[in-house]
Amino acid sequence: MEKTLAIIKPDAVGANHTGKIIDRYLQAGFRILGMKMVRLTAETAGAFYEVHKERPFYGELVEFMSSDRCVVLALGKENAVADYRTLIGATNPAEAAEGTIRKDFATSIGNNAVHGSDSVENGEIEVAFFFSRSELVQTA
Ligand code: RTP
Ligand code: MG
Repeated sequence: MEKTLAIIKPDAVGANHTGKIIDRYLQAGFRILGMKMVRLTAETAGAFYEVHKERPFYGELVEFMSSDRCVVLALGKENAVADYRTLIGATNPAEAAEGTIRKDFATSIGNNAVHGSDSVENGEIEVAFFFSRSELVQTA
């Protein structure tokens, strides 16, 4: 089954939107293959978003992602990566479509409620970044 990593970011966890966002995932047909709450260190957040190391927002992003708890999920579904990105909407909530998670819960381009993998390959890599094999529901 195709996988995507989902992160409910510190802004959404802090605002008590975790349950509502997980319900969106379930109503959209995703299976939860793994789930945990974590408080990322700056080092771990920096490693996770290393691809953005040279971008001007990297420091702010690492600080934000390590500022409070995150809920991290491995989600499975046919076409999981593309369908999840449709469900969450554009990075900037001002540009996110009506009914998307970021439109409803994000407050700015930085504090944008959720993360999603951007390719099938990165979905596998990002799930493995957070979950060991024994922490994942095994699918055929
Ligand atoms: P994500 O990786 O978190 O799912 O978000 P994304 O693919 O939609 O956006 P990406 O370009 O990968 O950026 C990663 C995260 O960095 C923050 N960001 N801030 N201030 C800014 O201009 C800016 N641009 C991006 C956001 O939190 C974004 O989700
Ligand atoms: Mg991204």
